[in-house]
Amino acid sequence: PETGCLSIIVLGASGDLAKKKTFPALFNLYRQGFLQLNDVHIVGYARTKISDDDLRDRIRGYLPNGDNGTEDVENFLLLIKYVSGSYDAPEGFQALDKAISEHEFSKNSTEGSSRRLFYLALPPSVYPPVCRMIKSYCMNKSDLGGWTRVVVEKPFGKDLESAEELSSQIGELFEEPQIYRIDHYLGKELVQNLLVLRFANRLFLPLWNRDNIANVQIVFREDFGTEGRGGYFDQYGIIRDIIQNHLLQVLCLVAMEKPVSLKPEHIRDEKVKVLQSVLPIKDEEVVLGQYEGYKDDPTVPDNSNTPTFATAILHIHNERWEGVPFILKAGKALNSRKAEIRVQFKDVPGDIFRCQKQGRNEFVIRLQPSEAMYMKLTVKQPGLEMSTAQSELDLSYTQRYQGVAIPEAYERLILDTIKGDQQHFVRRDELKAAWEIFTPLLHRIDNGEFKSLQYKPGSRGPAEADQLLEKVGYVQTHGY
Ligand code: BG6
Repeated sequence: PETGCLSIIVLGASGDLAKKKTFPALFNLYRQGFLQLNDVHIVGYARTKISDDDLRDRIRGYLPNGDNGTEDVENFLLLIKYVSGSYDAPEGFQALDKAISEHEFSKNSTEGSSRRLFYLALPPSVYPPVCRMIKSYCMNKSDLGGWTRVVVEKPFGKDLESAEELSSQIGELFEEPQIYRIDHYLGKELVQNLLVLRFANRLFLPLWNRDNIANVQIVFREDFGTEGRGGYFDQYGIIRDIIQNHLLQVLCLVAMEKPVSLKPEHIRDEKVKVLQSVLPIKDEEVVLGQYEGYKDDPTVPDNSNTPTFATAILHIHNERWEGVPFILKAGKALNSRKAEIRVQFKDVPGDIFRCQKQGRNEFVIRLQPSEAMYMKLTVKQPGLEMSTAQSELDLSYTQRYQGVAIPEAYERLILDTIKGDQQHFVRRDELKAAWEIFTPLLHRIDNGEFKSLQYKPGSRGPAEADQLLEKVGYVQTHGY
């Protein structure tokens, strides 16, 4: 491991993302010993004028309940200092640099490098000024090496043009290896398992293609609406919030070719190729929905057509996937909370069990809740009769890995940032290719050319979405 002082600076320290995700993830890393190995200190930065203790009190409320009052919590909180300042004025960032440098000096000025990780838990509109300030006042200055890295999170723009503009503004200040674009889906256990599953199992290698696979579904459902964030959500909609990033990243890992090695650049090269092979989305292969009651939120305009549900069919134009529809579906206020990948296989040719056919083979990877993988198979119904039934080969993580804690996505990703591993972060060209896929559709939606169909909260979404699935060849199977 690298030696020297590690400073983690959380900008936007009093905001929602920092309180709910960043600080709890840092605490979990601390508790597991990952931050104790280093001379770590954490600095919160925001505009509000509060004391170190005020910030600590605010964070305390978001740490896991069971840990309240423990020594771990108190020791962790003592690592945190607070500096206030604006996001575009030198004084605040000079003070921030002073706080970081003082700590570095007191710890290791003579023997270690200095590592500075800036986590921007901020709206993207302030990324450019904040990056400019960091670059001017807060870079690592140690002669003994080290680094400065910045972590940013979506939304990266609203379409191709605005995303490219944001990328070039940040790109003028930092090199690509210094920029960590988080898509937290890449930190999920079963998403990280996809490469292993696909490329370490002989079983799947010959099956994973258009000859055997009928269609692939990547589905995200939430059983709650946009409560409390309607105003924000309304400017983006479900495609920008979930599909263009989280689901598309999953699609890349399901569809990509085998990378040359596990080096981050090799993996990301293959992901980009998949994105670049996606054909333009056809209007007739899109269904949009908005749940009834969405507009009751006073921060949502009465005439909003913003989709809270969308199904879109993507086609990958390459040798492996020609003709296989990739169904991306995401919705809020639906009947359940679940994220899963469903790989549906083609019918058995020359099926001799015709009359008793139960359904197709399906391989399901459930990302959440209760991580699991199961394969739907047709088996002989046990008993004297010769009849068939559908059953499952089931790998449920809670049973198979009892007592093994599955890390939170943000924990993993912050640790990767400290290690300098960019495999699970979105590269600039990937981001661009992802926006290229959805921008024409998004512009048509923004221009009012697409209507969001109403659906009842707690339902499966608009019936038209199920009809579209049938149209592209998805066969509803029995079982779960
Ligand atoms: C976020 C979206 O990126 O992901 C939210 O902005 C969504 O709208 C969330 O609720 C879902 O994340 P997870 O990890 O709960 O599936």
